[in-house]
Amino acid sequence: MKILVLGSGAREHAIVSALLAEDAGHEIVAAPGNAGLAQQVETVKIDASDPKLVAEFAADNAFQLVVIGPEAPLVAGVADRVRRAGIPVFGPDRAAAALEGSKAFAKRIMSEAKVPTGGAVQATTVEEVEAAFAEFGAPYVVKADGLAAGKGVIVTDDREAALDHARFYLQQGGVLVEEFLDGQEVSLFLLADGHDVLPLSPAQDFKRAGDGDTGPNTGGMGAYSPLPWLAERWESEADFVDEVVDTIALPTIRRLEDEGTPFVGLLYCGLIITEQGIRVIEFNARFGDPETQVVLPRLETPLSGLLLAAATGALGRLPYPAFSPDAAVTVVLASEGYPESPVTGREITGLDEVRDVAIAHAATALVDGRFVATGGRVLSVVARGADFAAARAKAYAALEVIGLEGSHYRRDIAEKVAR
Ligand code: AMP
Ligand code: GLY
Repeated sequence: MKILVLGSGAREHAIVSALLAEDAGHEIVAAPGNAGLAQQVETVKIDASDPKLVAEFAADNAFQLVVIGPEAPLVAGVADRVRRAGIPVFGPDRAAAALEGSKAFAKRIMSEAKVPTGGAVQATTVEEVEAAFAEFGAPYVVKADGLAAGKGVIVTDDREAALDHARFYLQQGGVLVEEFLDGQEVSLFLLADGHDVLPLSPAQDFKRAGDGDTGPNTGGMGAYSPLPWLAERWESEADFVDEVVDTIALPTIRRLEDEGTPFVGLLYCGLIITEQGIRVIEFNARFGDPETQVVLPRLETPLSGLLLAAATGALGRLPYPAFSPDAAVTVVLASEGYPESPVTGREITGLDEVRDVAIAHAATALVDGRFVATGGRVLSVVARGADFAAARAKAYAALEVIGLEGSHYRRDIAEKVAR
């Protein structure tokens, strides 16, 4: 199949690697891609968020499937335009992508679909924020109502810090104040074709910058999959997944279908398992990063067939995708200063010397034959093993070999599931 993958991160590198692993002779182009992707497939420097440009490029080059990685092209309406050009596209139209782009829209859909989520109040003034703080109490959760790449959220006991955060984002449009939900976090991805869904295997993301969940929120510093501890509360991981499909994913997808905004693409359910049950903290309209780096290597069903079936409304005819029981761990290497103000332009060394891991590039460029870091989250080291101890050992051994001045990574990814 001739496939165009839009995006430039480690997530897109993982998607392309999964497509190549099928060994099906796919012709893959990544746009704009990154230095790692350029070593595996053709990359084309076009603006992935320009709907007209992408649709013309896809049509002119006879792509049979367009896969949209990041949220920005979705919210810009790239999927709408490509779909209108008659090309199957994995990624929701702009209206359905509001599930991620507008937290207020997501909360309305959840309420109408009777999907379990925490209490939330939309605020446009400081007074409304203070009233919501009084209602919910500490810890305070304040979110920007719009795309903020995981950085628009604060969760803190410090009322003044929460108010400062709210004041900043009030000037940009509005905020959501939420009830604090306590429990383990789970990311569950589901392929959706507008009517049906197929779940992938759950993963856990590490959102805070520092070990022990300290420091600021980031886009994600590491992840692992599967989640063995789910079987302590459910009979099995499959029972947990079924509950999410029945009570969260399908009601949401059907509600969007009924509204005339069918959701075609990846429904990312960000969940917290509270004592009272599963609660949605957020939906995203795309694969998660870095969770994709640990979910897709375990996928045994060919990815291209699943993405095409979603893009063409044919998921209802397929069985659930199959996953290897292997443990997968990914650790993100971040530049000095990430997430506040990453230092870029420094050389990355040792990439040719690592063994037994896959490197998913994110913010890298090749300059005069050397890799340099061009952003905050530079790359993901991905390792698999028969158990988490083995996978972690490989990932952290590789990180010892990779050099990037001032860089940092978390040392506790998947620690609690390794023994
Ligand atoms: P979000 O961008 O909505 O995924 O939020 C980023 C992170 O903040 C989540 O992954 C959680 O760790 C935390 N968070 C968000 N909302 C809540 C909430 N209502 N209760 C507790 N933690 C939250
Ligand atoms: N890892 C969190 C996200 O992709 O939004």
